[in-house]
Amino acid sequence: PRSGRPVEFDAATGIWNVYGYPELHEILSDPATFSSDTMRVIPKQMMPEAEEFSMEGFITQIDPPEHGKLRKLVSSAFTRKVVADLEPRIAALTRELLDAAAERGRFELVTDLAYPLPVIVIAELLGVPSSDRALFKQWADALFERDSKISLTERPENRDAEVQAVLKPWKEMSGYLAAHAAERRTRPRADLLTKLVEAEVDGERLPDDQVVNFAIVLLLAGHITTTMLLGNTVLCLDAFPEQQDRVRADRSTVPAVIEESLRYFTPFAALARTTTREADLGGVTIPADQLLMAWLGPANRDPRQFPDPGVFNPGRDPNPHLAFGRGIHFCLGAPLARLEGRVALNILLDRFDPLRADPDEPVEFIPTPTMTGVRRLQL
Ligand code: HEM
Repeated sequence: PRSGRPVEFDAATGIWNVYGYPELHEILSDPATFSSDTMRVIPKQMMPEAEEFSMEGFITQIDPPEHGKLRKLVSSAFTRKVVADLEPRIAALTRELLDAAAERGRFELVTDLAYPLPVIVIAELLGVPSSDRALFKQWADALFERDSKISLTERPENRDAEVQAVLKPWKEMSGYLAAHAAERRTRPRADLLTKLVEAEVDGERLPDDQVVNFAIVLLLAGHITTTMLLGNTVLCLDAFPEQQDRVRADRSTVPAVIEESLRYFTPFAALARTTTREADLGGVTIPADQLLMAWLGPANRDPRQFPDPGVFNPGRDPNPHLAFGRGIHFCLGAPLARLEGRVALNILLDRFDPLRADPDEPVEFIPTPTMTGVRRLQL
């Protein structure tokens, strides 16, 4: 927060920034007032390409009651059991990736483990060849730069080229997943795409475009965030060596370390919402049809909720951080992210004692303000 206040209006962008924990709690608990359908307030002339992205069809952008129906259907395929069964595969992949890095004689955490691990896991789970992962990375990189590329204030003369730079990978990715999903209709396999195609709740099934949309969300949300989680956790244990000693001595505290890492360096730092009606928030009246950014990172360091927020303390109990959101849109992949974090951290602690960043190599962060994560960390 620039002013230290929990809610601030930014006149330059017309966006209400919300930083306080109780205020975020309120936003995320009240989807009737704070809608996830951001396209309803972004004027067409500012985002003429919005419709082409078909953003509106994403689970993260849909409000009740449609959201509940869609969420039930996808959760019937992407269950806790499906995730829990992945544990041995995640451990084997982690060891393989670390072995390969050891052979090369250098270990850069993001390239060698934190990026490939979640991508291979999600690709295998969906049932798309993980050998296509150079493609996924290309798409993800292009799309995640969207925020900085297509801003509401950028120069109109660059607009067409910028829009194309995003639309092209978008269309390629949708086409790729649509082809895989269509194939599962005729040739079912033992994979999540097949489960999504076949999912049925109260006699309703997922339309084809929703299978594809959900697969896109999994592929994108499913990897970059977990990459950040792994890198950030190692960085925390490097910066707080006494906490590393503790978790080494008692591995049952690994999950608490992961949770505190999610609070301390919140990967998805901000969520967008819009007001459907006038709302009072943190002593400020926000009119209807306004765009809000709910800043999870700052809320997770709000001293009103977390004493000594700048201290990495896995002993916080409870630790009600908002890194996975809250309420109806609470992250569907949280069990998978937590599992990957726990398995990878345990194996890293086995192999590296101490687990330390190379002091001669700079640690690099992702340069996007809405994301908090290391991009390069040499061990
Ligand atoms: C939703 C964070 C990993 C799939 C969310 C939301 C957050 C989040 C904050 C709420 C969005 C909102 O309310 O607008 C994270 C973080 C992760 C992570 C920090 C890793 C550390 C994953 C993984 C998957 C996944 C591994 C799947 C493989 C989803 C889905 C939703 C979601 C499908 C939408 C749920 C809904 O709208 O009902 N995630 N996520 N996430 N996440 Fe994650």
